[in-house]
Amino acid sequence: VTEVGTDTTGLVRRYRSARRDRSLAVLEGFHALKHALRFGAQVEDAVAADSEELKRLAADLAPDLAGALSARVATVGLETIAELVPQAPRTGVVAIARRPEVDVAAVLTDERTAPLVLLEEPRTMGNMGACVRVAAAADAAGVLTTGDNDPWHPDALRGAAGLHYALPVAAIEAVPQGDRPLIAVDPGGEDLRRGAIPPRAILAFGTERHGLSDALLERADARVGIPMREGVSSLNLATSVAVVLFSQRV
Ligand SMILES: C[S@@+](CC[C@H](N)C(=O)[O-])C[C@H]1O[C@@H](n2cnc3c(N)ncnc32)[C@H](O)[C@@H]1O
Repeated sequence: VTEVGTDTTGLVRRYRSARRDRSLAVLEGFHALKHALRFGAQVEDAVAADSEELKRLAADLAPDLAGALSARVATVGLETIAELVPQAPRTGVVAIARRPEVDVAAVLTDERTAPLVLLEEPRTMGNMGACVRVAAAADAAGVLTTGDNDPWHPDALRGAAGLHYALPVAAIEAVPQGDRPLIAVDPGGEDLRRGAIPPRAILAFGTERHGLSDALLERADARVGIPMREGVSSLNLATSVAVVLFSQRV
């Protein structure tokens, strides 16, 4: 762990411009950096407020990465961390890494049976991150999003604890064509049961307020719904991704 000098102006500028740079990812928090390194991120810069705390976290939570972490992370004061990102993470660790190139065509033609998660115009960054996190845990083939929101936004990365590096995550222009079955996951669909999802399915989830678009519902090969107690209208987006992915695994 190396100490950074007192003039941190360049560092602050670098982190602030990285937030707007679509080739870079800003990682906030120890877990985000840990997962990014574990899943092969090319880390360009990493700083921590407290080198002793970083060593403790690495020893407790990432012994596999302890060497890599102490070699890469420089120490700066907590007040500097607070200038680098809008909300300093509790662990006092922030980093910049390169975003990987995602070959969407290759993701779509991947022959593995794992499903691919499609989020139609997701609105909240935390939700997007939580979807990526659970998709990584369930070993899904990837997460694709439509709409204006960047799935690699720092807040989404924070919500995913950096697990964007564990599977392909990309924004796409439109619902993909191809040979994967398109399954609309919608409260009005047929009750979800084990085996209801065909191999290599694209599982489409709708936007938080309005659900799936009519166009997607019409195009879908099937609609599945998670049965709910009467009176409950819907589940949270990331919760439904978790239920559907893990319902087919347990
Ligand atoms: C918060 S919900 C949208 C609620 C919207 N008013 C609707 O009725 O679809 C966001 C997305 O989560 C998924 N979802 C939520 N609850 C669900 C359920 N019980 N069954 C299937 N999908 C569900 C759907 O993909 C939905 O579009």
